[in-house]
Amino acid sequence: MELLLKNGYVVDAANDFEGVADILVDKGRIVRCGADITEEADTVVDCTGKTVIPGICDMHVHFRDPGQTHKEDIITGSEAAAAGGVTAVACMPNTVPVVDNAETVKYIVDKAKKAKVKVYPIGCITKGQRGEELCDFDELRKAGCVAVSDDGKPVLNARLMSRAMVKAHYAGLRVISHCEDPNVVAGGIMNSGVVSKELGVKGMHRISEDISTARDIVTAGDLEMPIHIAHVSTATSMLLVRLGARYGAMVTSETAPHYFMLTDEKLRMRDADYRMNPPLRTEDDVTAITEGVCDGTIDCIVTDHAPHTAEEKADFETAPNGVVGLETSLAATLTALYHKGKITLKRIVRLMCVNPRKILGVPGGSLGEGEPADITVFDINEEWIVNPDKLHSKSKNTCFKGMKMRGRVKMTIVDGKIVYEDK
Ligand code: DOR
Ligand code: ZN
Repeated sequence: MELLLKNGYVVDAANDFEGVADILVDKGRIVRCGADITEEADTVVDCTGKTVIPGICDMHVHFRDPGQTHKEDIITGSEAAAAGGVTAVACMPNTVPVVDNAETVKYIVDKAKKAKVKVYPIGCITKGQRGEELCDFDELRKAGCVAVSDDGKPVLNARLMSRAMVKAHYAGLRVISHCEDPNVVAGGIMNSGVVSKELGVKGMHRISEDISTARDIVTAGDLEMPIHIAHVSTATSMLLVRLGARYGAMVTSETAPHYFMLTDEKLRMRDADYRMNPPLRTEDDVTAITEGVCDGTIDCIVTDHAPHTAEEKADFETAPNGVVGLETSLAATLTALYHKGKITLKRIVRLMCVNPRKILGVPGGSLGEGEPADITVFDINEEWIVNPDKLHSKSKNTCFKGMKMRGRVKMTIVDGKIVYEDK
């Protein structure tokens, strides 16, 4: 046998199991998860005192490859993922060129073969992300895409978006909607509110997100087609997702740790490392997002890992939006939610490991027999301070810099191979 993890505190939500157990791995797959496994293995890892979960799947990252590999590439992005306990990622298509044809998908799929973690491409909804003409979803699906999105930009034409929901569904792909109305945002760079006023900078009004979220949920409900709402950041959008799901719309959604941990107060320092789109909102939004994550209304925690260089982030007002997040997502979730008694470990596993894979239709998220041996081992109590210089990502634009985290990834395993170890 290849690998034996001994005595870890295993949390396997898909099999409704939580408790101390051993995990036996061979040929990249889980042979058994249970008590007192005695078989011999080439590598035995003592996981006493550690927590063991299925590898995390982050369904919303930007790896900038092809085209902007000075910010990140598939290899460095995967190293950041491995260091964050993330064994699979889905990459957004707003690269240069954008991922709107089979050839570009093939480039990603080929390069991903050399990556430490599983990299799934997401294709564009519209050609060139121009919002005018739908991509060929069957072509994208056949080439290896697991979803479609114009993330970074909304699809402004509601008729086109409704056709995308239908066509993508029949091609076996989920539509991931970036909900924003640029006419409302009108050049704003942070949440519109008390802080933006005090700083004298243009705000991004929250209704930009809310009216777009409402449009897509109502459309999906009417069509009886699924929709996935990306990066929910406002209390009202949270409520819309809740209502939509209650009234039978096939809506799934995600948020990122910064939306349940930080507010626009962080922007007072005029530091562009706290700028992303959608932007950090207010305390009421943080409360609503936290509730949605903890009660299961939100399906997934993602990072929206969006690397940008220090030079690009140097000027507060002109910097591009986005923050890196792969190396802090589990720690942030444990710190803000688990250690505050707001969420169970099983729910975290559903949010980070099970649901993203269900939505994308990719394997994993379970420690059951025969499943891929993608596993994350962490110390639930180890404290550490986020130091941007120590990140594996090419870019260091983390909005958690200097923050104390409780919970640290110790080992990441992909297909039975140890791809990251914290020493
Ligand atoms: O903050 C963001 N950064 N939001 C987006 O929608 C796009 C992303 C990026 O690509 O940098
Ligand atoms: Zn994004």
